Amino acid sequence: MDILLFGKDGQVGWQLQRSLAPHGRLHALGRDGCDLADPDAVRAAVRARRPQVIVNAAAYTAVDRAEAEPAAAMQLNGEAPGVLAEEAARLGALLVHYSTDYVFDGLKATPYIENDPVAPQSAYGRSKLAGEQAVRAAGCRALVFRTSWVFGARGGNFVKTVLRLATEREELGVVGDQVGAPTPAALIATVTGVALAMLRQGRAMAAGEQRLYHLCSGRPVSWHEFARTIVGMAAAMPGFDLRLMPEAIRCISTAEYPTPARRPANSRLDCSRLEADFGLVMPDWEPYLARMLQLLSLKRNGY
Ligand SMILES: NC(=O)c1ccc[n+]([C@@H]2O[C@H](COP(=O)([O-])OP(=O)(O)OC[C@H]3O[C@@H](n4cnc5c(N)ncnc54)[C@H](OP(=O)(O)O)[C@@H]3O)[C@@H](O)[C@H]2O)c1
Repeated sequence: MDILLFGKDGQVGWQLQRSLAPHGRLHALGRDGCDLADPDAVRAAVRARRPQVIVNAAAYTAVDRAEAEPAAAMQLNGEAPGVLAEEAARLGALLVHYSTDYVFDGLKATPYIENDPVAPQSAYGRSKLAGEQAVRAAGCRALVFRTSWVFGARGGNFVKTVLRLATEREELGVVGDQVGAPTPAALIATVTGVALAMLRQGRAMAAGEQRLYHLCSGRPVSWHEFARTIVGMAAAMPGFDLRLMPEAIRCISTAEYPTPARRPANSRLDCSRLEADFGLVMPDWEPYLARMLQLLSLKRNGY
C-alpha cells in the first residue's frame, strides 16, 4: 500500500512519519516537496504517486495571524483539502484529514459531539470548517479527526511557549476560563495508525463513505492548570533553569488577555464515537507531557 503524507514536518506530521511507516510504503512530503497553496502542484504530487491513502497533516495553524490573513488560511485549510479529496475520489483512495475544536463556538456546557452544530468564531475556525465541507463535497472515502490543543517535542506549541516564559519571568498570568484537552501529537498519530490498520482488517470503508471523529486526550483542563503542570514538572527536571514557580502563575480571564482571534471557552470534545468504533480509551495527557519534558531535558543536558 502506498501512503502519501503531506505536512511531514509539523507536530502531527512528524509523529505520523513514525506511526504510518508500518502500514505501507510511505511518501512523506514537507513544504519543499509540495506547496499546498498551489493546487496544480498538489494534483501533480498525488498523480505521480497514485497512493491508496492520502494523509493531510499540513495546515495554516497561526490562529491569531489568520485574522489578518484570512485568504491565506482559507487557501490552505479550506481549499487544499478539497483538492486532495477530489484527487482521492479520482483514485478511489482514502483521505485522512485533521480538523479542530475551533469549528465550535464554545458555548455548550458539555463536551461537543460530532453532530453538534458548528459556529466558528475565528478566521482559522472558518477556514478549517470550509476544509471539512470541501472534503465532504468531493465524496471520497474520508476519515476526518477533529482534535484540540496539540503539543509535542517537535514544533511550536503552548508547552514550549510556557517553558520559554518560565525562564524569562517570575510571574505570569494564564487564562483559566477556556477549557480543553491538551492532545499529544504522538497520540493523534498513533490513533491514526490504529484506525488505518482496523479499516484494512475487515472494516473497510465503502466507496464514498466518510467518518468524522473527535480525537483528544482524556482529561480536559484550563490553560492555567495546564501551564502550572508544565512548570511544576519541568521544575523537577534538570536543565530548564526556570525563574517561574507554578504557584506564581496567576489565573486570569479571557477578557484580561485579548487576542486577535476569539477562542471557544469550551473546547472539550467527546471521543465516545472514536473509542467505540476502534476499541480505544483516550489516555491522560500527563504521561506524554512528562516524556516530552524528559526529552527536552536530555537535549538541554547534551545527550
Ligand atoms: N496545533 C494545534 O493546537 C491544533 C489544534 C486543533 C487542530 N489542529 C489541526 O491538526 C493538524 C496538524 O496540526 P499541527 O499542530 O501538526 O500543525 P503544525 O505543527 O503547524 O504543522 C503544519 C505543517 O503544515 C505545513 N505547511 C504550512 N503551509 C504549507 C504549505 N503552503 N505547503 C505545504 N505545507 C505547509 C507546515 O510547514 P512548515 O513547517 O514549513 O511551516 C507545517 O509543517 C492541522 O490540521 C491543524 O489544523 C491543530
